[in-house]
Amino acid sequence: MKVGVIGTGYVGLVTGACLARVGHRVCCMDNDTAKVDRLKRGIMPIYEPGLEELVRQGVEEGLLEFTDALAAVVEHAEVLFITVGTPSRPDGSPDLSAVRAVARGIGQHLDGRYRVIVNKSTVPVGSGNWVRMLVEDGARKTVPALTDGGGAGAQAGEPDFNVVSNPEFLREGSAVWDTFHPDRIVIGAESERAEQVMRELYRHWVSPDEPEREPVPLVVTDLASAEMIKYAANAFLATKISFINEIANICERVGADVSRVAQAIGLDKRIGNQFLNAGAGWGGSCFPKDVSALVSTGQEYGYECALLKATLSVNDTQRKRIIEKLQRELRILKGRTIAIWGLAFKPHTDDIRSAPALEVANQLLNLGCRVVAHDPVVTAAQAHSQVPDLQIADSALGALDQADALVVMTEWPEYPQLDLGEVGRRLRGRVIIDGRNCLKREMVQELGLVYVGIGR
Ligand code: UDX
Repeated sequence: MKVGVIGTGYVGLVTGACLARVGHRVCCMDNDTAKVDRLKRGIMPIYEPGLEELVRQGVEEGLLEFTDALAAVVEHAEVLFITVGTPSRPDGSPDLSAVRAVARGIGQHLDGRYRVIVNKSTVPVGSGNWVRMLVEDGARKTVPALTDGGGAGAQAGEPDFNVVSNPEFLREGSAVWDTFHPDRIVIGAESERAEQVMRELYRHWVSPDEPEREPVPLVVTDLASAEMIKYAANAFLATKISFINEIANICERVGADVSRVAQAIGLDKRIGNQFLNAGAGWGGSCFPKDVSALVSTGQEYGYECALLKATLSVNDTQRKRIIEKLQRELRILKGRTIAIWGLAFKPHTDDIRSAPALEVANQLLNLGCRVVAHDPVVTAAQAHSQVPDLQIADSALGALDQADALVVMTEWPEYPQLDLGEVGRRLRGRVIIDGRNCLKREMVQELGLVYVGIGR
């Protein structure tokens, strides 16, 4: 099929490359001309395992192309994905100006041919209807030109399209894998015709490298339900983590070990063992934004989301607990040097959006500490764009010199592999706060260091 993808950010580029891999003819559009030029030369705007190769292959096979012209992508495609950014405004509500501009623009370029317009950006519940209205508005603006002097022929300019919601569930760091191995594909369609087009698009949704795999279940719903599924999934996962963090906080008080508790409750299939790691809380570009947006939607429609507000509040306090733990061990924080291992919001990404580590670093700096951080991939420039006074060390061990305490904020796999003896020798103080429960507690304690985990 002929597919257009508008917006070559994280979701758009991965979606476009994967659609080309299964044989669709994909045109990806972005209004950032420099970015489009780089993509044409095979230079990726983000790091994501497997993506560069997938893009190269698609381009070589003639199935994937890039353009900066909206008219070209609308002309090319029978299915048009909107995958532009919806960043949070200062008040937490999503900034939908890019979606608005694209929807109107699509309308202006529509001809008589039927199109399916797919919302894949995470947009508030109800946005499907809103996008339909904007496309119609865009199309209407072009009607006088199309029908100039045509009188009754005005109908010729009526746009023929349906809107579909097709949310993505991919995680950073495994986006290509996740796109090919979803637990389900959700399609919110406003007509049978649009549903059939989407079913055809996702027929054989397996990478050609694994032709024998079971087909992915398709869940077909109305527009609003599909939009809600995305928010409900992220809000549930965020709540699951806040839940185990709350249990961790009680475990600490009663002398239980949250790791054992999580392991055991996770064996109950109704609960499941994933997303039960207690720690310094969740961050990233999705959970904070989506949970807040769902609370706003509730408010907009006259409902107070008590549970989701608690999910946010537990997460907020969880970061403060790291500071409390340091205070308990070191008493005075002013004038102390604190080493932080890990700045990214999770391992295997350089993303620092809403990263708990940066908030903890900021709080420590405000309390008069010197903070020296290490991260295997986050650069000093990235870190300084958010926390200018943070010192960045070249190596994890290098961050420890003169430090009164070490705080582990991201569970990069290399940290537990480091020589703990050397860690003990380098640290000036004795305290290790393991904000991700990723170090071997007994080994740390055997070296005469003070180990403080989360909920254990
Ligand atoms: C998430 C969803 O998983 C994905 O389906 C959705 O499309 C986008 O949002 P992502 O933001 O890439 O993906 O990160 P994810 O791997 O889900 O982790 C989110 C946060 O939760 C991280 O800060 C992570 O450290 C934290 N986390 C995760 C925990 O604290 N404990 C856990 O057990 C799991």
